[in-house]
Amino acid sequence: MSARVPGPVMVAAGCGGTGRELEPYLGPAGLDGLDFVTRSITLDARPGGPGPRLVEVPGGIVNAVGLPNPGLEHFLATELPWLVRAGARVIVSIAGATMGEYADLARRLSRAPGVAGLEVNVGAPDEVGVGLFEVREPYHSASVIAAVRREFPADRPVLAKLRPDVSRIVEGARSCHEAGATAVVVGNAVPAAFPDGRAGGLSGPAIAPIALRCVATVHQTVPEVPLIACGGVRDAASATAYLRAGASAVQVGTALLHDPTTLARLRADLETSHQEDP
Ligand SMILES: Cc1cc2nc3c(=O)[nH]c(=O)nc-3n(C[C@H](O)[C@H](O)[C@H](O)COP(=O)(O)O)c2cc1C
Repeated sequence: MSARVPGPVMVAAGCGGTGRELEPYLGPAGLDGLDFVTRSITLDARPGGPGPRLVEVPGGIVNAVGLPNPGLEHFLATELPWLVRAGARVIVSIAGATMGEYADLARRLSRAPGVAGLEVNVGAPDEVGVGLFEVREPYHSASVIAAVRREFPADRPVLAKLRPDVSRIVEGARSCHEAGATAVVVGNAVPAAFPDGRAGGLSGPAIAPIALRCVATVHQTVPEVPLIACGGVRDAASATAYLRAGASAVQVGTALLHDPTTLARLRADLETSHQEDP
């Protein structure tokens, strides 16, 4: 059995906290039935980068959080069981320093109860700076996806999260799909800098036109690749633009940091516009 593509509205990696922080803002259903992508989990705990980790800029934020997370063991013992009990469909985002680490994470997560799927972070805006495996070439990301796919059951989705690099996105999406990705997430934050020159990633409405260009180009060139859009989704109009361009789902990130009720509103608005569409 092949895996179902999640969606149509998902929580983007790292922007829903551990789930507990978001739950009070989701209305009566809470996390029940929600496709929740966790922050990226690494084998060992990471404290995250030095401050300031976020700065607001026109149209978005620049962040360099450094993928803080408690490490796989602690995640399996605490955060995962809580999310599963809350009814979330948990997609665990994974990040590794080597291909072997990605494979190890996939193997161990395949045995953990309640893991609905994996999202492979091969698109961090500054992967070398944060100690991740370097994935500048499409064959790098495809090798990581193939290694993960070998370790994870075929009936559960493996998503490849790429950076929205307009010049390489078609190759990246095609090669990850051929390597076994159920869908490609386009994309991560756009490489950017803090006012003092430190490397970071830009997210929020400012990047939506870039990610939209990537989604549209991939869909037109390789329509067989299922797409999940991520970048600046904040309301029904921004989500619909992606869905019309060929995405089958959208992820919401930075908008949740500004207003955590965005997700509940967006789900209701999309539901209404779907019913109104002839
Ligand atoms: C504070 C913060 C933390 C993030 N953490 C992660 C992460 O752990 N893993 C990941 O793949 N992406 C992470 N991202 C990227 C988001 O998931 C998303 O791809 C990006 O911000 C673009 O979407 P947006 O404009 O809706 O925020 C993070 C973004 C922000 C702002």
